[in-house]
Amino acid sequence: MRFSLYILSCLGLSLASPIPSEGLGMRELIRKNTSLNNFITLLLEYLPAIDDTIADLVGVLTDFEALLVDVTGDQDTYNGLGGPCTEYTLIFARGTTEPGNVGILVGPPLITAITNIVGTSALTVQGVNNYGATVDGYLEGGDPAGSAEMAKQIQQAYAACPNTKLIASGYSQGGQIVHNAAAQLPAKVGQWISSAVIFGDPDNGTAVANVPASKTDVYCHQGDNICVNGDFVLPAHLTYAENVQAAAQFITSH
Ligand SMILES: *[C@@H]1O[C@H](CO)[C@@H](O)[C@H](O)[C@H]1NC(C)=O
Ligand SMILES: *[C@@H]1O[C@H](CO)[C@@H](O)[C@H](O)[C@H]1NC(C)=O
Repeated sequence: MRFSLYILSCLGLSLASPIPSEGLGMRELIRKNTSLNNFITLLLEYLPAIDDTIADLVGVLTDFEALLVDVTGDQDTYNGLGGPCTEYTLIFARGTTEPGNVGILVGPPLITAITNIVGTSALTVQGVNNYGATVDGYLEGGDPAGSAEMAKQIQQAYAACPNTKLIASGYSQGGQIVHNAAAQLPAKVGQWISSAVIFGDPDNGTAVANVPASKTDVYCHQGDNICVNGDFVLPAHLTYAENVQAAAQFITSH
């Protein structure tokens, strides 16, 4: 609570009410000219105290992410599965505490980076549903219901659109979900996956089951405690939007 108040006083913003257009002028800055990642970097300069365990930071992270949704206007929920088949299908699992079904910190910038290369009509996006993205889920190695759901969605895409290039991706606990889901797939479906891309992976160093290493791309920042399966959320865990361009290049080269 002390920390939330600290954020609010630094930013001159109130999360409980609509963000005023004055304050630091950040809302205009992000809307008009600043990429999400630059914005997050800017915000983090005001949030030096993000260095606590994930359980203790739930309220702060939830507020922080709600603020980002508000100022960016980014869509945090996608349910494209079941629509027409497209060249690429992205199934994405968000991180702990993130909103919607693709979250805000990595999902939306990744979608933009991919569509910047292939065009919006070449990509179907589906977030992982039936997944609470809770701290308990993280601590037990990735929410079991979300893991089963992602495996089900991948098999649904395989059955409906066998020629699509399936991207299995996730951030933070979403990385655990990708690992768990892949392990639940029949081997032929795992091998069919075009690329597995994980950001801030709690299972960093462990292969994604059934997916060849050449199709797997894991981003882990120096000093990200979650990448060594720790419980501390440090700023390095919140800035994976800076890796989405490279990830999109990897994805579209497969
Ligand atoms: C927008 O960004 C460009 C390049 O980053 C910069 O040169 C320009 O001054 C910015 N414009 C505004 C209005 O901030
Ligand atoms: C992630 O795993 C790789 C391979 O095991 C290791 O080299 C790297 O240091 C790890 N990254 C972090 C941030 O722990």
